[in-house]
Parts: sequence; structure tokens; C-alpha cells
Amino acid sequence: ELQPVILAGGSGTRLWPVSRSHYPKQFLPLTGEQTLLQQTAERLDGLGASAPLVLANVEHRFLAAEQLRAAGVEHARIVLEPEGRNTAPAIALAALQAQAEGRDPLLLILAADHHIGDPEAFQAAVARAMTLAEAGHLVTFGIVPTAAETGYGYIQQGESLGEAGARVARFVEKPDAATAREYVDSGDYLWNSGMFVFRASLYMQELQRFEPGIVEACRAALEGAREDLDFLRVDPEAFAAAPNISVDYAVMERTEHAAVTPLAAGWSDIGSWSALAGVRGVDEQGNTLRGDCLLEDSEGCVVDADGLLVAGIGLRNLAVVATRDAVLVADRDRVQDVKLIVERLKADN
Ligand code: GDD
Ligand code: MG
Repeated sequence: ELQPVILAGGSGTRLWPVSRSHYPKQFLPLTGEQTLLQQTAERLDGLGASAPLVLANVEHRFLAAEQLRAAGVEHARIVLEPEGRNTAPAIALAALQAQAEGRDPLLLILAADHHIGDPEAFQAAVARAMTLAEAGHLVTFGIVPTAAETGYGYIQQGESLGEAGARVARFVEKPDAATAREYVDSGDYLWNSGMFVFRASLYMQELQRFEPGIVEACRAALEGAREDLDFLRVDPEAFAAAPNISVDYAVMERTEHAAVTPLAAGWSDIGSWSALAGVRGVDEQGNTLRGDCLLEDSEGCVVDADGLLVAGIGLRNLAVVATRDAVLVADRDRVQDVKLIVERLKADN
């Protein structure tokens, strides 16, 4: 059994001002008609998988439920987290919930906010990952790196496991810039895509070894959970005791059982306005325009006009994102720093 688990609890701050805390990027139609969450669910069609389990923040429950319904996703289960404790506890809730139902499926862990240009290549990679996971591995999907990005996990490939992939010799989450440069130049490393396949019980076994506090807190949070419409609300007090740590640090960096299968499927985590422009594509002037935009003599810009007209003259290499109540103007080489603005806004409120 393949149980898809969609992680939809992130805040997407680097796409501010379009992505907001009450309406984060996974719930927005950034790359087409469908929202990123809907695209993630539809990408599962044809895999023969069970109905997805979606983990989201309680604040976004109706967004998640309505979008899944609108996309025709049937029997989805939505588990609600009272607060974000990061991905290791979220995945633990999914694994424990399956076990509580007397199942021990392979979990296909998916981020709700990624773009994949070639769904068929993605599905072929999932099939390879399942082979490796059946053989007792915690499987990552490796992307050939194109830059020394510091926001990713890096995977050093080890011993070959045949056509399906290789052992992970080393997994390093978010290295500093110099280390990332070294890894990319070495040609030995892949980026971690942030999607995984592993047996629920194997994940819980490794989590018990490395982060027993997460196991204890998540067990209690599910024991105290209550059903509410189609939602499962975990116990707030119990869940708050879970250490706040991502699956990458908690398990993938530490386990000896990791494996990697290659993924070449036009993957992007849409981690910035520039990355989104990469997915949306550029016109003859190298601009990526969306909404009501009028540019004169401008090149290499990404402009997003949400409900108002944006005009620009002589612009070079800028991101301009205008919404009704906030406008971002940034050097495209600095778009990662949008999160600094969001942090300042949070601190001021
Ligand atoms: N349910 C739930 N609860 N989901 C969460 C939570 C949470 O507390 N925190 C994050 N998520 C979701 C996000 O919405 C996203 O879909 C996914 O989990 C990954 O979280 P991010 O916060 O976006 O992680 P990251 O981008 O810093 O790093 C991960 O992804 C990279 C690739 O995009 C890591 O796996 C890296 O190793 C990887 O390279
Ligand atoms: Mg991410």
C-alpha cells in the first residue's frame, strides 16, 4: 500500500506579499489555474495510491478541505496541527495514524507547495523509490544541483543499489554557502527535493532512536485527538511538547538506511520570486509578467500585479509584486531576503 502524505503546514514567507500567513503559498494558484495543493493531489492520479492524508494548520482547515473537494480528491483525510512543529512531528502523526488503523503502508511524503513540470517522470521516480523502500530504505529524491543554494539538503551518493538508485553516503541539511559551493563543484552531491518514501514503521523506529520526544508527544497528541467534521484535530497540549525539528535534521542526516533515487522532472520548490519566474517562463525581454502590467524598456524583471495596474520604465532585474495593501520592490538577486521583511512585519505587530 502506498499512502500519500501531503505536508501543507508551511508559511511560504519568501513569496510575500502574495503569500500571507492566513493564505500561504500552497493554497494559491501560482503556476496555473489550480493551487499548488490541488496540483500536488492531482499528480497522484494513476499511481494507484490510497486517498491522501493531508497535514495542515488548524487555521487553514477550510482552505485545505474546499480546495481538495474542488479538485475532486475523494476521501482525503485532513489532520490538523494546532501549531506548526515542523516536518518530523507532522510525518510522525501520519505514520502513527496509519498504524493506529492497523496499517503499515509505504508513506509517500510530499510538500504541498512544489512545482513538477513532468508528472510522468515524477511517477516513474516514485515507482523506483517504492522498490528501494520495500527493501528497507528511507528514500529521498535527488535533483542535480544548478547552483550553490543554501536552502536545500545535500545528498552524497554512495554504493549503487542498481537501477533504482544508490545508498546515501552523507546527508547534509542546509550547509553554509562555502560548503554548498564545495559540494556542487565536487559533482558528487544532489539536492534533496524534500519528498520521501519509507515504511511507516521504519520511520517510527528511526525517530524513536533519534528523537524519542517527538514519538511520545505525537502518540499522546493522537490519543487525545478529536474528530470534527472531516478533520482530525490533534490534542494541542500534547502536540506542543513535540520538539520543533524537520525530518531532514531529525532523521535523514542521522540514519544509515537512507537511499536516493534520481528525479529529473522539472522540479522547483518555488522558493522565491525568481524561482517562480523560472516556472512561469519569460517573454522576449526576459520579463515574467502576470496581471495588469505595462513595461517600457525593461528587462529581466518579474512583475506580479494582483488587482491593480503596475507600470514600469527602464527597469532592470527587479521583482515588483503589487497587491491591494502591499507592494514589494526588490533586486532580483536579493529576493531570498523577502523573509527578512516578513520577520520585521511580524515583530512590529
Ligand atoms: N503539516 C506541516 N506542519 N507541514 C509543514 C510544517 C509543519 O509544521 N512545516 C513545513 N511544512 C511543509 C511545508 O509546507 C512544505 O510543503 C514542506 O513541509 C517542507 O517544509 P519547508 O519549510 O518548505 O522546508 P525547506 O524548504 O526549508 O526544506 C526542505 O525542502 C527542501 C527542498 O525544497 C528540506 O527537505 C530540504 O532538505 C530540501 O532541500
Ligand atoms: Mg520549502
